[in-house]
Amino acid sequence: MADTQSALVVDDERDIRELLVVTLTRMGLRVETAATVSAARSQLASHEFDFCLTDMRLPDGSGMDLITHIAATHPGTPVAMITAFGNVEAAVEALKRGAFDFVSKPVDLHILRELVRNALRLRSERETAHAQSPAGRMLGQSPAMQALRQTIDKVARSQAPVYIHGESGSGKELVARTIHQSGPRANGSFVPVNCGAIPAELMESEFFGHRKGSFTGAHADKEGLFQAANGGTLFLDEVAELPLAMQVKLLRAIQEKSVRPVGGQAEQQVDVRILSATHKDLATLVEQGGFRHDLYYRINVIELRVPPLRERSDDLPILCNAILARLAERHGLATPPSLSDDALAALRDYPFPGNIRELENTLERAMTLADGELIHASDLRLPQGAVVAASVPAPEPQAVAAPATTTVSAPMDVAAPSANGDLTGAMEQLERAAIEKALLENRYNKTKTAAALGITFRALRYKLKKLGME
Ligand SMILES: Nc1ncnc2c1ncn2[C@@H]1O[C@H](COP(=O)(O)OP(=O)(O)OP(=O)(O)O)[C@@H](O)[C@H]1O
Ligand SMILES: [Mg+2]
Repeated sequence: MADTQSALVVDDERDIRELLVVTLTRMGLRVETAATVSAARSQLASHEFDFCLTDMRLPDGSGMDLITHIAATHPGTPVAMITAFGNVEAAVEALKRGAFDFVSKPVDLHILRELVRNALRLRSERETAHAQSPAGRMLGQSPAMQALRQTIDKVARSQAPVYIHGESGSGKELVARTIHQSGPRANGSFVPVNCGAIPAELMESEFFGHRKGSFTGAHADKEGLFQAANGGTLFLDEVAELPLAMQVKLLRAIQEKSVRPVGGQAEQQVDVRILSATHKDLATLVEQGGFRHDLYYRINVIELRVPPLRERSDDLPILCNAILARLAERHGLATPPSLSDDALAALRDYPFPGNIRELENTLERAMTLADGELIHASDLRLPQGAVVAASVPAPEPQAVAAPATTTVSAPMDVAAPSANGDLTGAMEQLERAAIEKALLENRYNKTKTAAALGITFRALRYKLKKLGME
C-alpha cells in the first residue's frame, strides 16, 4: 500500500483545524483540510483518503450529510465526527449514518490519536478484505453512479432476479458482485458463469452437476454451479449466449428452485439468487426468437441499466486515479503517473465504446508509452474518428472459453493486455489448484489426470483452456 496515508480534516474554525492538522501530521499522515461541506466533497471526489474527520456544524451544512455522502461513495474510508461535548444524540446519529466513531469537543488529543490509529487499522483491514475479493470497488460520484448505487442498495435487499444490461466493459459484473456483497447473501458464494464459454454438451452437467457413471468419464459425483451457489448468488453472464435447449432447463430450475444432476434420480433443493447480464439487446433477441420469452420474463423481474462511461465523464478523474494507482502497484512503481490536463480533456472527449475496460487498457498502454510520470494526450493513442466508433455495436464475445477480457477490441495494433484475474472467482482458484496437483501427480499425462479428477478428457481440456493453463 501507499506509504503515506492521507486524512481529510473538515472544520470551519481555523484554530481547531490547525491543532488537528498538527496532531495528525505528527502521526505521519498527509493532511488536507476543508472548511465547508462543499469543499470537502470536491476534495473527496479528487482524492481517495484513508481517514476523514469532520466537525458537525459547518457553514454550508451538517457534517452528518458528509458522513452519509462518504458512507455511500467511499465506503472504504473511515470517517469520524467531532461532536459537542455531551451530545449523545448527535454521536448516535453519526454512527447510524456510517461514521465509525466520534470524538467530543474539546478534543482530547490522546483520545484523538487512539481514534486515528483505530481508523487506519480498520482501513487496512478493509483493504485486505478488498484485495482478497476479486471485486473491485465501484467508484464514481456522478449523478448516474449515485443513482446506480441507490438502486443497487435497494435491489440488494430483495431476492428478486435482476437483469443487468449495459455496454461492453461498463461494469456489469462489478454491479452484480456489489449486489451480492450488499445483500443478505453476502456470506454465501458468488458464482459467476460465462454462458458463452461452456460447450453445449457440457452445459447441463456444469449447471446441475452429475452423478458418478452417468456418462463416460464421470468417475465421481460432481456438483454443479447451482449447488455451488446454494445460499448465494448465481451470476449468469452473457446470458444471451445460452442455447435454447438449456434455456428450458434453466427456467425449470429457477421456477422449481431445485435441480437434478445428470444421471441422478432425485431433485435437489437449491436456494439461489439469480443475477444475469448481457451487453446484447435481449428484448430484441426475444422478438427474433433467439431467447425464450418465459425465461426472459423470469430473469428480468428487475432491470438495471449500467450507464456507459460517456454518460458519466465526471467520474473520469477518480477512475483514472484509481486505475493508475492499481497499475503502479502492479508494476512496482512507487508513485503512480498522473494525467496532464490535455490528457484528461482528451479522455473526456472520447466516447469509450469499450467503457471502463477500454479506459483501463488505454491507461495501461499510455503508462508504458509515457516518458516520465506525466501522461500526455499523445500517449493515450485514442483512435481518431472516435465519435463514429460510439455507434458501432460492441463486438460479440467469443463463443468458447475466453471470459472476461475479450469483448473490447484493442483500438490500435497494440496487443490486448492479458487477463489480470479480476474475474477469477474462488471456484476457479480451487479448480486450478486441484488440476495443478493432479497434473503434477500424473506427470502431466492428461488422460490419467482427467481420470484422477473424475472428469472426462474433454472436460479437462476445456477446463485447462478456460483457466488459461494450456
Ligand atoms: N464504477 C466502477 N469503478 C471502478 N471500476 C470499475 C467500475 N465499473 C467497472 N469497473 C472496472 O471495469 C472493468 C470492467 O468491468 P466489468 O467486468 O464489471 O464490466 P462488464 O460490463 O461485465 O464487461 P464485459 O462486457 O466485458 O463483460 C473491471 O476491471 C471493473 O473492475
Ligand atoms: Mg462482464
